[in-house]
Amino acid sequence: MADVIDGKKVAEEVVGKVKTLSGALHAKGASRPGLAVVIVGEDPASQVYVSSKSRTAKECGFHSVQHTLPADTTEDELLGLIHDMNADHAIHGILVQLPLPSHIDAGKVIQAIAPDKDVDGFHFVNVGKLGAGEMETAFVPCTPAGSMLLIERVRGKDLSGLNAVVVGRSNIVGKPMANLLLAANCTVTVAHSRTKDLPALARTADILVAAVGRPEMVKGDWVKPGATVIDVGINRIPAPDKGPGKSRLVGDVAYEGAAQVAGAITPVPGGVGPMTIAMLMANTVTSAYLAAG
Ligand code: GUN
Repeated sequence: MADVIDGKKVAEEVVGKVKTLSGALHAKGASRPGLAVVIVGEDPASQVYVSSKSRTAKECGFHSVQHTLPADTTEDELLGLIHDMNADHAIHGILVQLPLPSHIDAGKVIQAIAPDKDVDGFHFVNVGKLGAGEMETAFVPCTPAGSMLLIERVRGKDLSGLNAVVVGRSNIVGKPMANLLLAANCTVTVAHSRTKDLPALARTADILVAAVGRPEMVKGDWVKPGATVIDVGINRIPAPDKGPGKSRLVGDVAYEGAAQVAGAITPVPGGVGPMTIAMLMANTVTSAYLAAG
């Protein structure tokens, strides 16, 4: 049976360190780290994520600002807000929760965020730095950064020569995850919907990262014995066994089967999810230190 990777515990450790750093910065007379989170519209999942981010920011002793904008907010209005926050010295991190309503060009909005406040790591400047291996000066997207920390907890810092398979090629997770694993000297394959014989490819992985957004797609017999399995998926599916209209959260990995074979595995919930928020706090405190000089 696999070891269960406790993302909640590691995330609490990260948040604890961020709190200390935040307090130390304030004690030096610099302004507290400031995080602004923007949500447009009323997507229920996004509302949960955003309030969790704002709450954790407060716990870290940050100046925490939440902008809750109506679904009919125009692109110009949103760009105007970003422009103001870019110029606001009390704000060190800006996060616009995705997805945005379809009348707003998300790409344009992300590129409008000042790269040195882009704590999501989605701006092309940060994407480019990560792609070029300039990790020291890049903001790395929070979910892949948190996944790497969990992988290092299990396998140690030296991942040289391990085979890593990343299932999913999104800009938010798959691609940056692949770059981080590559920078850590893994042999990396990125699989996607057109990949041939995905189960056989997955079975070559010492580190298997599932980030496709399809409930329980990765089966137990796709997992190499002893592999480290990182499940990035958070999917809500009907759970009639819990009662009419009930649902439950599952990952992209069929957990029960995979846990029989893997060496270590992240649960859903309680695995990668808490790490995403913790790394957002870490990026924000880094940004505040850089601003303080
Ligand atoms: N929506 C889902 N994940 C994320 C994330 O990491 N950042 C932002 N801004 N939106 C998201």
